[in-house]
Amino acid sequence: MRQHVNPLSQFFQLPLSLPSKDVLFRKPHYPIHLDIGSAKGEFLIELASKYPEWNFVGLEIREPLVSLCEKTRKKLELNNLKFLFCNVNVSLDEWLSDLNYGQLKRVSIQFPDPWFKRKHFKRRVLKTNLINSIAKSMSEDGEIFIQSDIFKLFEYMSNTIDKSRYFNRKYLGGLRFIDKNPYNVKTDRELLSLKKNLPIYREMYIRNSLLFIN
Ligand SMILES: C[S@@+](CC[C@H](N)C(=O)[O-])C[C@H]1O[C@@H](n2cnc3c(N)ncnc32)[C@H](O)[C@@H]1O
Repeated sequence: MRQHVNPLSQFFQLPLSLPSKDVLFRKPHYPIHLDIGSAKGEFLIELASKYPEWNFVGLEIREPLVSLCEKTRKKLELNNLKFLFCNVNVSLDEWLSDLNYGQLKRVSIQFPDPWFKRKHFKRRVLKTNLINSIAKSMSEDGEIFIQSDIFKLFEYMSNTIDKSRYFNRKYLGGLRFIDKNPYNVKTDRELLSLKKNLPIYREMYIRNSLLFIN
């Protein structure tokens, strides 16, 4: 399996029409947690098993990973979870617009990029447009959780969210960084970083009351 794909290549720039939540879930009105760059999917598989009253969506640009995750999901008969193949920077906005306003409650973007060099800046997942798409569909109190073990990349994500006026950083116990995954489940990459003793930077952002203006 290819380790990385170039999201800017022509193939990944073609918009895909993602299936509506009404087709994806048995209980389509449940709150939604979206995990961007879900990779091998263990994080969402564990959350979906623990929280049947939520719907979970994993979005991933490497199609073979999505097929593998879907196989596992079906085997486990998890009807509140779906993995979808797409480039989130191209295909997510339309899918989000179709949700009931406020239904999107959580977005996690965890160790998202292999693109930490400056020259690859344009390939990064977290961009102003993506934050705006999320802000448009989220009502007050919805959350975005970000984490990375590369400070420069983390700072870039953090600055991009800060610049959007729709989210406020949450200070837990007065501290900027969160010391563990707030969902009590670790991602694959998180486990690897912990094993290597790397520092992990984590932040939570909360949707504020500012109305979205297009
Ligand atoms: C370093 S991995 C981290 C995976 C997982 N979140 C974790 O913490 O273990 C980043 C994932 O994001 C995916 N990704 C990168 N750009 C993407 C994009 N534009 N749309 C969807 N997925 C993307 C990559 O294919 C990769 O699987």
